[in-house]
Amino acid sequence: MNLLEKKAIEVLNKNWKGSFSIPCENLYPFQWFWDSGLIAIGFAHFDMSKAEKEIETLLDAQWENGFIPHIIFHTETDSYFPGADFHLSKLHPQASKKYKTTGMTQPPVTGFVLQEIYRISKDKKATLQFIEGVIDKVYFNHEYFYANRDPKDEGLVYIYHNWESGTDNSPIWDDIWETMNPPEYTFERRDTTHVDASERPTKREYDHYLHIIEIAKKHNYNDKKIAEFSPFLIQDPLFNAMLIKSNESLIELYQLLGNNEDKIRTLKHWQNKSIKSFNDKLFDSDVGVYTHYDLRNERVLSYISSSSFSPLFAGIPNKDRAAGIIKVMMDKFGKDDQYLCASFDPSNERFNPKKYWRGPVWVNLNWMLCKGLYRYEKNDLANRMKNDTVEIVEKNGFYEYFDSRREIHEEGKAGYGGNNFSWSAALLIDLMNS
Ligand code: DGY
Repeated sequence: MNLLEKKAIEVLNKNWKGSFSIPCENLYPFQWFWDSGLIAIGFAHFDMSKAEKEIETLLDAQWENGFIPHIIFHTETDSYFPGADFHLSKLHPQASKKYKTTGMTQPPVTGFVLQEIYRISKDKKATLQFIEGVIDKVYFNHEYFYANRDPKDEGLVYIYHNWESGTDNSPIWDDIWETMNPPEYTFERRDTTHVDASERPTKREYDHYLHIIEIAKKHNYNDKKIAEFSPFLIQDPLFNAMLIKSNESLIELYQLLGNNEDKIRTLKHWQNKSIKSFNDKLFDSDVGVYTHYDLRNERVLSYISSSSFSPLFAGIPNKDRAAGIIKVMMDKFGKDDQYLCASFDPSNERFNPKKYWRGPVWVNLNWMLCKGLYRYEKNDLANRMKNDTVEIVEKNGFYEYFDSRREIHEEGKAGYGGNNFSWSAALLIDLMNS
């Protein structure tokens, strides 16, 4: 095992809190949905019991309607804003009674995470037994999405908050902020006491974030009311690609388990419908990639981001379309002076290579894109994606995100946001071992 992998294991073990992991110290002191799933992939390589416990704890916080919240507030701390007392999940009648959580979700990674854990496992029989014990909860979560987040019955689910997207302050959301005029809230940010403010969202952006939550709270987090009243209602290609990839994994895992014909049939039905709509509606021929659809204002948000390429991971485009998408990725994001893969179009005026989801490179997206490129047999590019990812971590440390400009890395100060960040460590272990 090389030194980098040893350090990655140290990061994960340090962020392990007994039954779940935090994304990193100070900045994110609780359990986050998609972090948790991706972290479990890392643990599966060296400590399967932690990988399993991570997922079990996440699923233990599932609501009675199948919903899985984006943050589970395991501890009381005032070092994070907005915390449990702001989100007030108990407003929803089916919220977890055991844990305080948020009333929003995050990209549904759990299905494909279970399959990754199975792939990595050296004791397939034991791992399949574990999967058998949890898989129905993941299925129930998908049932929740298709029943409650797809008001037009298209096979595409919406997100109602930018924090549900995972790509929290993407420049794409600026177009939504232009349609809103929230009050100036008074609150004490905690993130900017841990991390340089130039790397985080602005105060005015936070006003928008809080305002959408206030609207959802006014309606007790009722999905139908949210679909009616939320100013933010988006069909997001990354989110939907994660759901589709997870559908595919659930089908394959149920087939391995046997005796689940009804569920397999339903999953295949969702899957066919979702993939068709995804290709019909989210492919944006103006820019040659998949983009976001604004359901509230019935318009395409024609911006190229790393999310635009995530459908490769889920096998959504056919071969020709995939080749076209990859060409756009290389033309715009793959120039010699750039590391793959900036989170937002480097040629767009809204690009900012230091600021969170407005441009920096993220390890989790690179990991997905790398797997997507292998899936389409673009092995050279997949190898570049992998090597770029390993190199930026090696040069800077296990940061949350990284500058996409190669020149900035010369002094090893191109890592931003939280340090010793769990999914950067977890997915690096996976990349180096697959
Ligand atoms: C944050 O606090 O920035 C989180 O990403 C929200 O999920």
